[in-house]
Amino acid sequence: MWAALLPVGRDGATGGYHRFAWTPPELECRAWFADEARRRGLPVEHDTNGNMVAWWYPDGGGRGDAVLTGSHLDSVPGGGAFDGPLGVVSAFAAVDLLRERGARLRRPIGIAAFAEEEGARFGVACLGSRLLTGAIDPVRARALTDADGRTFAEVMHNAGLDPQAIGPDEDLLGRVGCHVELHVEQGRALRGPVGVASAIVPHGRWRFDFHGEGNHAGTTLLGDRRDPMLPFAGMVLAAREAARRNGTVATVGKVRVEPGGVNAIASSVTAWLDARGPADDAVRRTVAEVDEAARAAARAHRVGVDLAEESYTEIVDLDLALRDRVRDAAEGVLDGGVPVLPTGAGHDAGILSARVPAAMLFVRNPTGISHAPAESAETADCLAGVEALTGVLADLACG
Ligand code: GLV
Ligand code: MN
Ligand code: MN
Ligand code: MN
Repeated sequence: MWAALLPVGRDGATGGYHRFAWTPPELECRAWFADEARRRGLPVEHDTNGNMVAWWYPDGGGRGDAVLTGSHLDSVPGGGAFDGPLGVVSAFAAVDLLRERGARLRRPIGIAAFAEEEGARFGVACLGSRLLTGAIDPVRARALTDADGRTFAEVMHNAGLDPQAIGPDEDLLGRVGCHVELHVEQGRALRGPVGVASAIVPHGRWRFDFHGEGNHAGTTLLGDRRDPMLPFAGMVLAAREAARRNGTVATVGKVRVEPGGVNAIASSVTAWLDARGPADDAVRRTVAEVDEAARAAARAHRVGVDLAEESYTEIVDLDLALRDRVRDAAEGVLDGGVPVLPTGAGHDAGILSARVPAAMLFVRNPTGISHAPAESAETADCLAGVEALTGVLADLACG
């Protein structure tokens, strides 16, 4: 199952994955998901927001109070193999183990693959789960554009979905009792093979647009220039300093320079800031300080600058009772303790937790690298993750 997914969207030269929502590699991942479900006789529900759920229903049982598990299949540009798919593959594997072991299902189990979790195509992370839970206005979502200027509405339409139907799905949410997402750990904090999440730290994305004046690189005197690259450079350095001062992290990992000629002063620079930290006020202060520095630098270079918040997620403290139950169930099937740790990465579980109790299991990542090809997980740890998830699902859904 894992082997079939591994080559999809993988760049042979770098080993990085490029699986952006509704592009051919991501569609191939969706087909893989549907095929895995079909081979197990699990009907697939396609919700109105592009999310997919493969259902295992109890014989003669109801459709409600389900235990949802799974993760996402899309990737960041040049991402690793595990971020997202590990949770989906582990969910199928856990269902297989429950069936092999003759578990008697009391509540439905839904294996979910959420759409556009990374926000790599349309800019808003967890777009599928945000739409499902009402955390983003469908009007705004429809108008989001990708790098080619295609709107989310257009892309959904081309994928055979009705863009007018996106938004909160009370019918689906009403059938979900809780959600447990398994995910590869994205830092070095986890020492044992498997851990449980306590919280997702506040995080967000901001866009800085610097508007200068395009001109000739050779004939334009320094004093005549309105070069947006200069305040942009100041903004990047300011982000590092503001993060250091406030005990947060801040990253500028994406920039668009127009028109992009070696021998031309840029006319505009668009740069995206990702900022995260232990507390909302520290993240807000970081962004305010970067904004102030960007404005001062822009003024000094006679460049305009605009700031837009593209998404923000406040601190998510995951449901305490479910977290303890998940940890106890995981410890019941694994040798050794299952530590509890917070994460600096965003997840659909965090978005869903606004509407249903949600929990997360993490699988150790020996490199501590993520959103890059070196992201890793040992097979033994992945198998421990599957065992843990199987124990959790047995506790929550079987009996
Ligand atoms: C998504 O994985 C994020 O944390 O940005
Ligand atoms: Mn990710
Ligand atoms: Mn992920
Ligand atoms: Mn994520």
